[in-house]
Amino acid sequence: MAEQVTIFEMGPRDGLQNEKRMIPTADKIRLVDLLSDCGLRKIEVTSFVSPKWVPQMADAAEVLAGINRRPGVAYAALTPNLKGFEAALAARADEVAVFASASEGFSRKNINCSIAESLARFAPVLDAAGAAGIPVRGYVSCVTDCPYDGPTPPAKVAEVAARLIAMGCYEVSLGDTIGAGTPETVGRMLDAVLSAVPAGRLAGHYHDTHARALDNIEVSLRRGLRVFDSSAGGLGGCPYAPGARGNVATEAVVGLLHARGFETGIDPDRLGKAAVFARGLRSVG
Ligand code: HMG
Ligand code: MG
Repeated sequence: MAEQVTIFEMGPRDGLQNEKRMIPTADKIRLVDLLSDCGLRKIEVTSFVSPKWVPQMADAAEVLAGINRRPGVAYAALTPNLKGFEAALAARADEVAVFASASEGFSRKNINCSIAESLARFAPVLDAAGAAGIPVRGYVSCVTDCPYDGPTPPAKVAEVAARLIAMGCYEVSLGDTIGAGTPETVGRMLDAVLSAVPAGRLAGHYHDTHARALDNIEVSLRRGLRVFDSSAGGLGGCPYAPGARGNVATEAVVGLLHARGFETGIDPDRLGKAAVFARGLRSVG
């Protein structure tokens, strides 16, 4: 039987968070519903962050209230602190994610605190989520390069990833936030992380700024990772990571995986339609 790889779809969150034009809530809901029909099992729908920091995600609760929840699909949301977690719980997110950085510069710009402060802020989120039975995913950003601090030491990524797992995250997603990673730097980073966290608890989250994301996924597959984050239509970027482009396109990842003999459970034709709709939401220019 073919080996299974899970795609964690990022389009509605990472894909849209950086769009300057305010996208109508109904279009966000339509995107999630189209993605739900593709066979995806994990969709990051939105984030419960400060609307002053990321105005595009201000309608998080409305989006979660409006989607058609398909059984077997987990609808996820980013939650940087307890306030975000409580709002996500009230909006019936199936799972949440806390997001840390391996570089101090990005941590400060993105969530306005040091790495150590961020981990302390996540502890009550993990406690509350544990009590509510909500799984928590962790992100580590800037796993190879930071737009503020330059190259990231692999040992620092391993340290933050191991902390997130020790705190109770079921999985850690390794973010090449600005898409600067190469198979060499991603490989070195993974070797360090794998000495602290098993491959089965890691995911690859690669932005495609320099068209290396698929190569970085191949490097990760060879090291045993079986979960990858991507955005239909290749949308995306982080408002606090200058120069960051979109996530690797889900349709490209699915094409690669199916060509390599992996199963994803995703229907490429339906995904193609969702990707066309996703790209139509992007501002021109
Ligand atoms: P802060 O200003 O230090 O927070 O921001 P604060 O606690 O001092 O609160 C300031 C105001 O925000 C207060 O409101 C709070 O109530 C409000 P005011 O009294 O001024 O009216 N507030 C909130 N409102 C709604 N939801 C909340 C919340 N928390 C506080 N959860 C904070 C700290 C973390 C809130 C802020 O920096 C923030 O929201 N940052 C989010 C940035 C973000 O979303 N970045 C993009 C996602 S990360 C990413 O894209 C990377 C990833 O894809 C992986 C990769 O590619 O590497 C995941
Ligand atoms: Mg990202």
